Parts: sequence; structure tokens; C-alpha cells
Amino acid sequence: MFVCLCYAVTDKQIAKAVREEGAGNMRELRKALGVGSQCGKCVQLAQQVIDNTIIDE
Ligand code: FES
Repeated sequence: MFVCLCYAVTDKQIAKAVREEGAGNMRELRKALGVGSQCGKCVQLAQQVIDNTIIDE
């Protein structure tokens, strides 16, 4: 599922960035994938994906 349409980033890519690149918050995720740095509409959902990925570990 696409989370960030501006950068065409999926929930799977976000989960991978959290697990493999240690992107544990929006600031780090933005740096890694660009998520949230254009229109910002994806920020809330992206944060949920980060949280769920961390909980799953
Ligand atoms: Fe992510 Fe626009 S949808 S910045």
C-alpha cells in the first residue's frame, strides 16, 4: 500500500527502513526516504507504520 504518494513510498519500504536503517521516527524516515517532505499528508499514516513496525519487533 502506498503511504506517501509524492515520493511513491509504500508501507513495506517504510517498515524496511525502520528495521534495516534504524529510522525510528519521522525525522529519520524523512531523511531516508523523503516521506512527508512534500505535501505532508502522509505523515500521520507513516508514523503509524513506524509505530507498528517497532511494536512488531
Ligand atoms: Fe508524502 Fe505528500 S504524500 S509528502
